[in-house]
Amino acid sequence: MDATIHPAHGPAGSREKTTAADVLTITGGTPLRGRVRVGGSKNAALPMLAAALTGDGPTTLRRVPELTDTAAMVGLLRGLGASASRDGGAVTVDPAGLAGRTAFEPDADRVGALRGAVCLLGPLLARASMHGGGSVRLARVGGCDLGPRPIDRHLAGLEAMGATVTRDAAGVTVTVTRLRGATVDLSAPPAPGLPAVPTVTGTANLLCAAAVAEGETTLRGAAREPEVVALGRLLIAMGAKISGLGTSEIRVTGVPRLRGVGPDDPAGAVPGDRIEAATWMIAAAATGGRVVVDGADPAELSAVEDVLRAAGAIVSVCGIGTHRSVRVIAPAPPNPFDAVSAAYPGLPTDALPQLGALAAAAGGVSRLSDGVFPGRTAHLPGLRRFGATATVRDGEATVRADGLSAADVTAPDLRAAAALLIAGLAADGTSRLHAAGVLLRGYERPVEKLRALGAEVSVGDAPASGVGEPPARRPGRGGWRAVRAGRILGRSRPVPVEPPACPAAA
Ligand code: EPU
Repeated sequence: MDATIHPAHGPAGSREKTTAADVLTITGGTPLRGRVRVGGSKNAALPMLAAALTGDGPTTLRRVPELTDTAAMVGLLRGLGASASRDGGAVTVDPAGLAGRTAFEPDADRVGALRGAVCLLGPLLARASMHGGGSVRLARVGGCDLGPRPIDRHLAGLEAMGATVTRDAAGVTVTVTRLRGATVDLSAPPAPGLPAVPTVTGTANLLCAAAVAEGETTLRGAAREPEVVALGRLLIAMGAKISGLGTSEIRVTGVPRLRGVGPDDPAGAVPGDRIEAATWMIAAAATGGRVVVDGADPAELSAVEDVLRAAGAIVSVCGIGTHRSVRVIAPAPPNPFDAVSAAYPGLPTDALPQLGALAAAAGGVSRLSDGVFPGRTAHLPGLRRFGATATVRDGEATVRADGLSAADVTAPDLRAAAALLIAGLAADGTSRLHAAGVLLRGYERPVEKLRALGAEVSVGDAPASGVGEPPARRPGRGGWRAVRAGRILGRSRPVPVEPPACPAAA
C-alpha cells in the first residue's frame, strides 16, 4: 500500500511518499546504554558529491553515508551523465560523461524531493563557465517542510559573479558565459520574517562557482558550518585556492581548471555526522541513559553538550585527536531547559526538534526557539499526542509534560521523525511511528543502532520481539537499490549491552 503522508507544503510542492511497511514499533522506558558510531554527514556528503562534477577526472569520496538522500543525489549525478559507483563507504564520481555538454537540467522529480539538490547549481555553473559558457535549469527544490526556504541569496551571489537568472513558477534557469570574481555579501537583509543567518548551501554553491571564476571572490557573511569547511577542503584538494574556511569571510582566487581527487586524499573523507551524534546524545538524555557516541568531532557538538548539561546530564569528551568521543550520562527525568538554535557554532536547528522531545520528557517547563527556521514546528503535534503540552508564541515553543505515554504518530519530516522516535523511547508503553522511512534520509541503520543501545524498536506493526520484521539483509555493495527503506530499516541482531567505556576523559 502506498500512502501519501506529507502533502505539498514546501516551496517545491514536494511530497513525502512512504509505504505502510515504514512503521516503527517502539516500546519505551528503557534507558539507552552502550556505544554508537555515527556515519558520514549527510549535509557534508551532498555538496561534496555535487562538487565532484567540477573535476577534470574522477573523484572518490569516502565515508559517504548510505541514505536515501545520498542515493537520490547519486541518481541526479547519473541523470546528468556522470558515472558513480559505490564500494562500501567509498563513492567514485566520474564526470567524463558530461564532456562537451553546456546545458544542464537535473531531473525535476528528484530535485523536487531533495533540498540538497540545490547544491548542484554552483558546480554545474562552474562546469559551464570552465567550458566556454552554458546554462543550468533547476526545478524548484524540495525537501523537509521547515517554513519558507528561498534561494534568493544563492541566486544574487551568482548574479554578482556574472550569471543571468531567469525565474519562473517551476524553477530557475541560470546562464553564464564566464564566471567573474566578486565581493558577495551573504549577510544581506533577508526577506521579511526570515532570520538574518548565513545560508549553508548558498555558501557551498558560491564557493564552487568562485573556485573557477576569473579573479578574486570574497564571500562575506559566509556560513561557518563544518559541512562548508569539508566542501572547501575538497575543493582545495581539487586545486582551488581558498582561505578563511570556518570564518564568516572566505576568499577565493579562481583557477582555470579543477582536478579529481583520488581515494587516498584525506580531503575526500566525509566528516562524521554531528546531527546524527546529537540525535543519539539527546536520545540518551531523554531516556536517562549512559551512552558514548563515537565518530563525530566533539568540538562540533559543544552547543548541544551545553543544552544537555542544562538538562542535568553529565557530558564529557574522551579519547584523543581524531578518536575523541562524547559520553552522556543522564538523570531521569531530565531537567527542563531553554534552547535557541543559531548558525554554527550555535545550537543546530537540525537538533532542535529532538531537543523538543527531550523537553517533553523533562518534568517542568522548557522553552525552545528556532533562530534559523522559525517555522520548524512540525514535530509539536506529535509530541502532544505523547501527552506533552506544546504551545508556540512569537516563535518560541513552550513544552511541558508530566510523563509521556505511548502514542500512534506519523513522521512529518526527517528531524521531526527523530524527535518522535525519541519521544517514543522515553514514553511508557508501546508507540507506533508511521512514515518512519523518512528517517532514512538522514540516519544510516537507525534501528540497528538503537537496538544495539538496548532500545526496544522494531520494524513493522508489532512489539519489539522481532515479529513482523522483514528478513535481515545487508545493503548490497555497489547497488543504489540497496538504499531502500525496508532493507536499511531491516532486522538487526540485539547485541549485549555494555557499559560505556570512556577512559581518558578530557
Ligand atoms: N535563506 C534565505 N535565502 C536564501 C537561503 C536561505 O533567506 O537564499 C534563509 C532560510 O530561509 C533560513 C536560513 O536562511 O532561514 C538558513 O537556511 P540555509 O540556506 O542555511 O539552509 P539550507 O542550506 O537550505 C542546510 C541543511 C539543513 C539545515 C540548514 C541550516 C543541507 C542539504 N541542508 O539547509 O539541513 O537545517 O542548512 O543549518 O545541507 C536537515 O538535515 O534536516 C536539514 C534541514
